[in-house]
Amino acid sequence: MIEYNNIWKNVQSSQAVIQFIIKNIFMKCIIVFGMFGLFFLATAFSNQEMIARTAQEDVIHQDTTFDVAGAVAVIKEGIKGREKEPASEVFQNIKLMGNVPAGRLLAIMEYAYNGSLGVTCVHCHNPNDWSSDEKAEKNIAREMSTMVRTINQDLLGNIQNLKGQPAVVNCTTCHRGEITPKLDMRQ
Ligand code: HEC
Ligand code: HEC
Repeated sequence: MIEYNNIWKNVQSSQAVIQFIIKNIFMKCIIVFGMFGLFFLATAFSNQEMIARTAQEDVIHQDTTFDVAGAVAVIKEGIKGREKEPASEVFQNIKLMGNVPAGRLLAIMEYAYNGSLGVTCVHCHNPNDWSSDEKAEKNIAREMSTMVRTINQDLLGNIQNLKGQPAVVNCTTCHRGEITPKLDMRQ
């Protein structure tokens, strides 16, 4: 009986040892997997951050390093002798500025559009095909241009007793060298 009890105790204690080992290993596994998980999350996040950063840098890179003077020179060379002809006859895809002389259209691009938005030509254009409408910004610019015309012709003109008639707004009035016009003086 005593012997039997001893054996039973041994069995009990070895069970406790096994349980202890299993518990310990289990806890360690949880800790190790947890650490792997955290590591994985951390690298995933930093990767995402890097992707976002490179994308942002690409945009900036694209916008600021584009050779505006070089591009304008090439286009000017291509329309040489036709600068005074209507843009619609010299260029391929003119919807608004058809009557503007071709040379002036280029000046509008360079100074009015690039300058007032603080961008380069590639913000609105694929420089391999200036006539393409593939960039949404180009069409937005057309709609902005129509809006400006409406403001000037239909709205400002109707305000009585203005000292500065004809009063005008243009792209610079709102954009002031930035893509997104400000809504708050503190910005
Ligand atoms: C804010 C947007 C914007 C920017 C910036 C811009 N353009 Fe344009 N560009 C336009 C729009 C809009 C038209 C079409 C005008 C129309 O339909 O009357 C156009 C038309 C043109 C055309 C005529 C293409 C064709 O064959 O139909 C040329 C060439 C051109 N742009 C060159 C340039 C150059 C060079 C620059 C930089 C110096 C530039 N653009 C910057 C919006 C832009
Ligand atoms: C009455 C104010 C006003 C005038 C004038 C104006 N804009 Fe804008 N423009 C805006 C506002 C507001 C937005 C929207 C900005 C935003 O995305 O929150 C905008 C957005 C744009 C965008 C899109 C910007 C982007 O890339 O996300 C283009 C391109 C643009 N304007 C071109 C022009 C051009 C070209 C002119 C002149 C013909 C012009 N705008 C005149 C107010 C104006």
